[in-house]
Amino acid sequence: MKKIILLLFILSSYGYSAGENACGSLEKCDDFSSDVHDLYSLQRGLGLYMNYCSSCHSLKLLRWNRLQKDLVIPENIITEDLIRTADTKIADHMTFGIPDVSPIGAPDLTLRTRVRGDDWIYTYLRTFYEDSSQTTGSNNLVYVGTAMPNVLAGLQGNQALDKDGNIINVSEGSMTQEEFDESMRDLVNFLAYAAEPARITREKNGIFVILFFIVFTAVMNLLYREYAKELK
Ligand code: HEC
Repeated sequence: MKKIILLLFILSSYGYSAGENACGSLEKCDDFSSDVHDLYSLQRGLGLYMNYCSSCHSLKLLRWNRLQKDLVIPENIITEDLIRTADTKIADHMTFGIPDVSPIGAPDLTLRTRVRGDDWIYTYLRTFYEDSSQTTGSNNLVYVGTAMPNVLAGLQGNQALDKDGNIINVSEGSMTQEEFDESMRDLVNFLAYAAEPARITREKNGIFVILFFIVFTAVMNLLYREYAKELK
């Protein structure tokens, strides 16, 4: 019996790592796990999303008014600056008028951090490089042969591969490498928020629930001692 359980365990761990390398042609993705409690980071992430991603990718499971409430954005900024389609209301989903998978094949991004993981997307966004054999003129180390053009080149500068296959900078962008990495962390934080808006309150409430249980256990323990005295 023990052997069967062990065998099942080994097989299941193979199942998880089966198929392609978890981080494309890289051995592993750069570590990053999102923080949805940093309001300014989420707001900056939203700004980047609206400027650089929303022309191709929808966020069809997130509503404008939920975003407004969670990210503390004045309603007039949402209606006047962010919503671009005339007949969109503040209670509508963030589809920007593009279908689920856009005509050029860009998928909806609401749940992508749940599917790929924060570190996959963080690494993906930072590892585009010039590749003239691709129709987009660029390729990616994490998602080899991606159909997504390198839309962030203006910020990051252009990158290329040296003869050992390592990524090198070939031209300057408007941001330094640190600023760019920081911006990508903001963007992934925002995408992680979009995947589960309730996470902001869930994680905060979780702390109170655990504190409550600790206090409750202590009180119950004192009560138990009182009863135990009587029973003796
Ligand atoms: C010009 C259109 C375009 C823009 C702008 C764009 N993308 Fe994409 N993106 C695509 C396409 C097309 C794909 C599908 C690539 C494929 O499957 O080969 C894609 C794929 C992706 C994926 C991988 C999805 C998956 O899990 O397979 C992520 C993540 C992503 N984009 C994030 C972003 C972010 C973040 C931005 C903004 C900085 C952005 N994209 C801007 C076109 C675009």
